[in-house]
Amino acid sequence: MKTFYATTPIYYVNDLPHIGHIYTTVVTDVATRFRRLAGEKTRFLTGTDEHGQNIEKAAAAQGITPIQLADRVVERYRELYRTFEIKNDDFIRTTEARHRLGVEALIARIEASGDLYTARHEGWYCASCEAFYTEKELEAEKRCPVHGTPTAWESEENVFFRLSKYAAPLLEHYERHPEFVRPESRLAEMVSFVEGGLMDLSVSRSKVKWGIPFPGHPGHVVYVWLDALANYITALGFGSSDADRYREFWDHPDAERVHFIGKDILRFHTVYWPAFLMSAGLPLPTTVWTHGWWLRDAKKVSKSVGNVVRPDQLVADFGADSLRYFLLREMAFGQDANFSDEAFLTRYNADLANDLGNTVSRVAALCRQSFGGTPSELPREGEVFAAAAAAEADWRAAMGECQFNRALEAVWKLLTAVNGHVVSQEPWKIRKEEGADSARLHRVLAAAAEGVRLCAVMLSPFLPAIGRRIFETFALPAADPAPADLAWGRLPLSKRMPEAPALFPRVDASVYLKENAAMTETPNPGGPAAPAPAPPADDRIAIEDFQKVRLRTAKIVAAERVPKSSKLMKLQVDLGDEQRQIVAGIAGVYEPETLVGRNVVVVANLKPAKLMGVESNGMVLAASVGEAGAPVLLDVPADVPPGSKVK
Ligand code: MSP
Repeated sequence: MKTFYATTPIYYVNDLPHIGHIYTTVVTDVATRFRRLAGEKTRFLTGTDEHGQNIEKAAAAQGITPIQLADRVVERYRELYRTFEIKNDDFIRTTEARHRLGVEALIARIEASGDLYTARHEGWYCASCEAFYTEKELEAEKRCPVHGTPTAWESEENVFFRLSKYAAPLLEHYERHPEFVRPESRLAEMVSFVEGGLMDLSVSRSKVKWGIPFPGHPGHVVYVWLDALANYITALGFGSSDADRYREFWDHPDAERVHFIGKDILRFHTVYWPAFLMSAGLPLPTTVWTHGWWLRDAKKVSKSVGNVVRPDQLVADFGADSLRYFLLREMAFGQDANFSDEAFLTRYNADLANDLGNTVSRVAALCRQSFGGTPSELPREGEVFAAAAAAEADWRAAMGECQFNRALEAVWKLLTAVNGHVVSQEPWKIRKEEGADSARLHRVLAAAAEGVRLCAVMLSPFLPAIGRRIFETFALPAADPAPADLAWGRLPLSKRMPEAPALFPRVDASVYLKENAAMTETPNPGGPAAPAPAPPADDRIAIEDFQKVRLRTAKIVAAERVPKSSKLMKLQVDLGDEQRQIVAGIAGVYEPETLVGRNVVVVANLKPAKLMGVESNGMVLAASVGEAGAPVLLDVPADVPPGSKVK
């Protein structure tokens, strides 16, 4: 029996959850709900990462102990999970005894492999990442490549893990299991990172007190990442006398072990974690699915930037399902997406209130008005039947590939087909001409209702509460659907249908935005941007002028900062039939490793120019966002080959 074990990263407890955190959990919830719906045995783990210097400091700043801080934040996570209907099977806290036992057992196995030794450790340390960086990785002025904050030179006697020994085995694993890191572009990033050579990793700390005591090294605690990563197996009982779950969901030939993480913690999950497991002789994760960042004004949503979007207001006003939908529909998994209040309201009104809500209430009202309930006869052919089969196939394929926005598009195609069917069949006319007993009327409305029911089944991993309300509207039990519910023909016939209020009451976006100045904690300076004035007529150009600009798609194959420049990035791009160097002013916003593998649009026929002494052969297109004009690269879907014309 195949098992599917999905985990989120476990969350730091020095910050309250914001939409970036919620996204990872919702994605994992959607993926596991889909697998349950597909009839697979699944287990879903999430939890909290409670040790380390940052938590020690955050608690001290609030005048409480680290565990008091953790208890408070954990309660907030639990509450939020209830609101968002997160159906996790387990919640692990790294301060639990079961976790400590598992970490000790893991370290004992790594030690037995001869992979631990003691030495002095010196290097540039970022306290926020709780990680050391090499000179090469640091930004100008020895700043952290993730946070942009200054790093500090640290020196202490530590236990080291022989990470360098695993560079070759890791590269071999990536080669043999390309599915290990997905999307593909992230795999390329890690291959080039490991090819650059791996240094041994210090895995104990003597300056930090808040952690798991390092076995055999009094005064040292376990490095937070070795501690935290182990949660994926300690939660299954690894290292305890009750390890049945571990054997079922991790150490089993039919187990699919999947992590869902954000790109900022890719290296920890795809280099350190598999190396620890290799050393311990334990199975590796099957796949590490990596998503992009939620941005606001082109910057990662995060507490340190001060632009967090908390979910509370949105949930109170629009319901948790609306936010779940927005997060999964707006972000193409793997890429960054911008969170804006306007985009949220547009999707709410257009997709949810109009497309989904109106279709459901229209079909339900037609059934109720005609028969007081569901129709009595359901056809097993016809346009809705065919559209449902096509939508289900597309939805299934997209869900399996974590293309959640595509899966939702497939459901929307079925909604469109249902609407088209109602409009073309004109059931109101049939009723007038043939009466409410007409078999044709029953068949027309039953096909529409069955189409709506199937939409609700496919939407239920995304919108569980709305799914249940749609089922109830069509005289079905208000429960999560079972695998058999995906088949055509489960609409109950001749059953009374209850009156149902609108699923998504429409909202006047401009009034809402005025009343709720901004949904972020720190309001946008200047508020929503005023529309740009229309260009004067004589500014316009002829099509021939535009055609002089040769726009092409290109794939970024390498990226590095231009020395001494805070803005310029040197890119090597592949244009299909040639590779060339372009310098782009994006280094203030993008990290080099996040650029490799991205598809972009370039101006291919610009005269060469030198920027800070570095030759540039073209220009990469980016939107200029906000008053500061922060660049946001224009993304091109992965399936468009490099060198394609853009016109
Ligand atoms: N505790 C570590 C993970 C340890 S896993 C063994 C950690 N915690 S975190 O709270 O900082 O982040 C948790 C998750 O939230 C990560 O996957 C991270 O990528 C995600 N996000 C935090 N901010 C984000 C955005 N702005 N956008 C999308 N997700 C981001 O890292």
